[in-house]
Amino acid sequence: SSEGQGKNVCVEFSSINIAKPFHIGHLPSTAIGNSLNRIYKALGYNTIAINHLGDWGTQFGKMIVAYKKWGGGKPIEESTVRELVKLYVRFHEEAEKDESLNDEARAWFRKIEQGDAEAVDLWQRMKTLTLKEVGEVYKLLGVEFDSYNGESFYEDKMQAVIDELDAKGLLKTDKGAKIVDLSEYNMPPCIIVKSDGATLYATRDLAAAIYRKNTYDFVKSIYVVAYQQNLHFQQFFKVLELMGKTWVKDCVHVNFGMVSMEEGTLSTRHGNVVYLEDVLDAAVEKTGKIIEEKSPDLPDKDEVAAAVGVGAVVWSMLYNSRIKDVTFSWKKVLNFDGETGPYAQYTHARCCSVLRKAGGYDINGIDPSCFADDATASLAKAIAAFPAAVLAAAEKNEPYIVSRATMEVCTAFNKFYFCNQIITEDAGVSAARLALTDAARITIKKGLYLVGLQAPERM
Ligand code: ARG
Repeated sequence: SSEGQGKNVCVEFSSINIAKPFHIGHLPSTAIGNSLNRIYKALGYNTIAINHLGDWGTQFGKMIVAYKKWGGGKPIEESTVRELVKLYVRFHEEAEKDESLNDEARAWFRKIEQGDAEAVDLWQRMKTLTLKEVGEVYKLLGVEFDSYNGESFYEDKMQAVIDELDAKGLLKTDKGAKIVDLSEYNMPPCIIVKSDGATLYATRDLAAAIYRKNTYDFVKSIYVVAYQQNLHFQQFFKVLELMGKTWVKDCVHVNFGMVSMEEGTLSTRHGNVVYLEDVLDAAVEKTGKIIEEKSPDLPDKDEVAAAVGVGAVVWSMLYNSRIKDVTFSWKKVLNFDGETGPYAQYTHARCCSVLRKAGGYDINGIDPSCFADDATASLAKAIAAFPAAVLAAAEKNEPYIVSRATMEVCTAFNKFYFCNQIITEDAGVSAARLALTDAARITIKKGLYLVGLQAPERM
């Protein structure tokens, strides 16, 4: 489609935190955002995929204190994010006994803010390490970003926002803090500057929204963030509105439900955090075993295991309306039958195999009279319905509309395949059935792509 031609859409998603776990809770944002990014692109929009990194705040002061005290002198680049997280957990344990650690942490963060060489260097190295590690996960997921401008990027862009709020008479002082009163809208105040002069998450979001409008002149700016942050988005969108930014009507909080784990399904637990990397690795490993069992002669077994294992996990996040809470279950995710990602991938591979065996068909020689039976007609209808589903998915920011439409084609194809012999004595009938198989293949492949999955040709 060319409906989006010449128009920009910002899609902010994943937005992980530096020196913190990239956990299963980040999967919906990553999967939904990646899918929406691809869907808007398919509609002709120019998209800007943004990872709004959580790379600013006192927690980095805490990290530095913990690293210096208990890091054992190990260079950050030789550590892992998990080790940094352990240090961070230890900080909180020790700080319960010794309040002064919190003052030290605040002092270190202030040093980062003031550009102290040592503090900035440590912070930067933690950022580099985290980005390197998450980069591996993004690669596995096939996710790419156009911008990694995170919270720290807005550090020097907030004063202008504060001044503008002030000039428009929107700021009130409350116990030394600067706030925008939202009581008229039944919301707690949006705090802009704390009494100690520190800015907040919301201040950075205001600066980021304005920066994105100025830089990208978007027709839509999407934030794929969990519903726990509903109030935050309502508040800062309202503040933008009060500032007279009429374009705030184009800002959309695309929210989603929580992910929980079924008890006992994961062996490695890190506290109560489940790292996304572990989930993906385990899915790939499990898929590899199934392939070894069922198709030991398959070429490129490792690549297929990665595509199918990761695909199973991603699909499971995108098959229901966003807002539903999801319970992650291995049994559900690695079930190759039923309405799963692997089933869709398998159907695609089946189409490929039929076409491969036929070795081609003559599109001009098809006999459409063989399209009259129910199974064939249903398949043709499912394929024809696909473009409208992509449009609807963008309109509602709901990737499941695409995954369901893709599944419709898969189910219809498999029925068609069992009801009809594709290669027959009659050249016109064979060509017709092969052409339809090819159309199903193209549609399923596109559908898989739009929800972030690969489509191996053999499984
Ligand atoms: N880093 C945040 C978190 O993990 C999410 C950021 C959401 N995006 C935003 N523009 N506030 O909770």
